[in-house]
Parts: sequence; structure tokens; C-alpha cells
Amino acid sequence: MSKIQVAIIGAGPSGLLLSQLLHTRGIQSIVLERHTREYVEARIRAGLLEWGTVDLLNQAGVGARMMREGLAHDGVELAFDCSAHRIDLKALTGQRVMVYGQTELQKDLADARTGSGGCIVWEAKDVAIDDFAGRTARVSYTQRGERLDVNCDFIAGCDGYHGVTRASVPQHAITLHERVYPFGWLGILADVPPVAAELVYTNHARGFSLCSMRSRTRSRYYLQCPLDDDIDSWPDERFWDELRLRLPEKYGSRLITGPSIEKSIAPLRSFVAEPMRFGRLFLVGDAAHIVPPTGAKGLNLAVADVRVLFEAMVDYYRSGSDTLLDEYSSRALARVWNATRFSWWFTTLMHRFSDETIARKMQLAELRYIGESPAAAAAFAENYVGLRFR
Ligand code: APR
Ligand code: PHB
Repeated sequence: MSKIQVAIIGAGPSGLLLSQLLHTRGIQSIVLERHTREYVEARIRAGLLEWGTVDLLNQAGVGARMMREGLAHDGVELAFDCSAHRIDLKALTGQRVMVYGQTELQKDLADARTGSGGCIVWEAKDVAIDDFAGRTARVSYTQRGERLDVNCDFIAGCDGYHGVTRASVPQHAITLHERVYPFGWLGILADVPPVAAELVYTNHARGFSLCSMRSRTRSRYYLQCPLDDDIDSWPDERFWDELRLRLPEKYGSRLITGPSIEKSIAPLRSFVAEPMRFGRLFLVGDAAHIVPPTGAKGLNLAVADVRVLFEAMVDYYRSGSDTLLDEYSSRALARVWNATRFSWWFTTLMHRFSDETIARKMQLAELRYIGESPAAAAAFAENYVGLRFR
């Protein structure tokens, strides 16, 4: 049986970033990932980073390509009533956001870990966390048919919503909070120039739309759609026609279309598991919480968890103190609940939930209020760029 300081389950952004940060302080970890590297890197996810996320990626030494290729945005547009209203994030908060696809970040993280001799086991099957309540913890997995055990000080459950770590916690010890939304997001990626220089979130009577991007030549667009829609019922032409209908005229008229290179429908959910620590097991990122994508908080929250856990582990290995480890769950959850509230609120503000005219009238009243009141715009901007770390 081998021994390592930290066993990390899952090689998504949470697991790889934690491993990389620990490496910068000489703390050793093993990362166990169920899938192949190719599979993990092919997943298309959101692409908007808070500046706190950018800073931590730079601190971890994985930010060079992001700083070169990412697009820093000073503002964002909210469209309704047939026109777009710009929220000047920089003027309202002093902060910007960075557009950089998670797919690229995932590659940068894996390159950095591999380049510095990090131990990532791809295709680790049947990962089991057998023991995490005592003085040490144990993880076992199968690699090329061989069953292996690892003893460790801590387990980081970075294995996403469908992972094994949260599921291993006894039911009586964990509380799950969940809301499922009655629609999905149909997303496409296409090699066409983005319709606007900044992101455009639109509330339209036909449903929500979002114009985002990956670069100056690659666009990422989304439409609210019924959850049970079949992807085959959305040929590219139908997608472009519907997007055009939902955009303010100044954008609809200049939308450049082209063949999609990816197209998928994703459900929307708010989910939080409490607490986020169970003895030697720490839940991180999607393993502990999911937000709907309106506002792109998912990856940023995962990175914020990693920051808190990393600081606690560094403190433990430097001074032997458990204090920050003991505070992990409450510190992480404070930010999680803020982002859960904001993502729910922004989703509720922008989507069509029913035919009720009163619901839509109230959405429009609130959007006009954000457009007219600097205080309301500032409250939106402060959450959108990410609340300050405490
Ligand atoms: N054993 C090993 N690995 C597992 C297991 C398991 N039983 N179950 C899941 N995994 C792996 C998945 O294959 C995946 O690569 O854990 C990884 C989890 O990665 P993500 O789902 O990307 O979660 P996380 O790293 O927390 O990333 C933060 O926030 O909202 C999102 O889009 C955002 O994916 C991003 C996430
Ligand atoms: C994306 O670019 O995929 C994206 C951007 C902002 C969001 C959601 C998704 O709120």
C-alpha cells in the first residue's frame, strides 16, 4: 500500500487546480480520474472567469496562455424591450471578467500537472473511499485490472455531481438542497465572429438567449428550450432563425451564421450539499454544488472552494493547525450560498417560466430598474464579477 499526503478524486478543473497549487508548496497528491484525458478535454463547458479565478490560476502558474488568448471584458449587456443596456462592470466595481473557455483551461491544467511530474491516473476504475472518519484515510481503485490502495491524510472529492465521494457520505450526515428548472439551454459553438464585443443576455417573450464567445472568431450561443426537446429537432437553420428573433434588432440584423461544430441541450439545476467536510473528506466544486449557468458561476465557485481548501492544507502542513481545515465548510458555503442565490435570481429574471403576463411584466420592471438605477446596476455588477473574498 502506498502513502500520499492528499488523494484527489476527479481530474476536472477542481482536482487539477488543487493538485497544481499543492505542488507549488511541495505537498504531494495523486489524482484519480475515471475517464481518459481525451474524454475529459472534449467536454464543452462555460467560459467566463471572475478576476479572482484569473488571479488564482496565475498564482498556480497555469495562466500564461489564458493571459495571451483570453478576452478581458469591461462590461456586459442585458437586452430586453427590444434594446440592449450595457452594465459597465469596470466603472461600477473596478473589476473586469475574462472570457476563456473551460476546455482550454482544462488542457492548460493537465499540461502543467503532467509537465511538473504530477501523478494523474487516467481511467482509474471503481474508485472507493473506504475510510475517512479516522486519523488517516484510504482510497482504492483499479488500474489495468489491478486493485490498488492508497493511504492519505486527506481526500479531496473533486469528482463532480455524479461522483463517488458525496455518495459515500452516510445519508444522516449530509443535507441536500435542490431545485430543478422547467427548461434547458440549447447551446451551439460555431466558427463565426461574435455578434457583439461583449456578452449579451436577452430576456425575450419567446424565451432567454445568450450570445457568448470563445475568441474573436468563435461564438458560443444559447437558447432557452423545452427540456424534452430532441437535439435533432434543432437543425442549425432553426437555431439561427430563433436566435435572430430573440435578439434586439441591432444584433439580429448583423448576426453572422455558419455550421455548428457542437450542439447540445443541458438541464438547469440549483443544488447544494451541506456540510462540505466529513472527517478527512472535503467536497469541492460540482461534487458539492451546482448552479444554473446564467452568470457562469459554476467554475468560479469550484475555484473558490479550491482556494479555501488549498490555504487550509498549506496551513496544516506548515503549522500542524486544524483551524482552517475546520473552517473549510463554513467559509466555502458562505460563497456558495451567495452564488446560488445570484444564479437563481438571474435565471428567474431572464427566462420565460409560464404564460403568466404578470411574471413577465415584473421581470421587465426589474430589468428597467437595473437599467436606470446605478445602485441596482452596481448590485448586479458586484455579483457578476464575483464577490470579494473574506
Ligand atoms: N472516479 C474518478 N473520477 C470521477 C468519478 C469517479 N467515481 N466520478 C466522476 N469523476 C470525474 C469526472 O470524470 C470528471 O472528470 O471527476 C471529474 C469532475 O469534473 P467536473 O465535473 O468538471 O467538476 P469540477 O472539477 O468540480 O469542475 C467545476 O463547475 O459548473 C462547473 O462547468 C463547471 O465543470 C465545471 C465545474
Ligand atoms: C459561455 O460562454 O459558455 C457562458 C458565458 C456566460 C454564461 C454562461 C455560459 O453566463
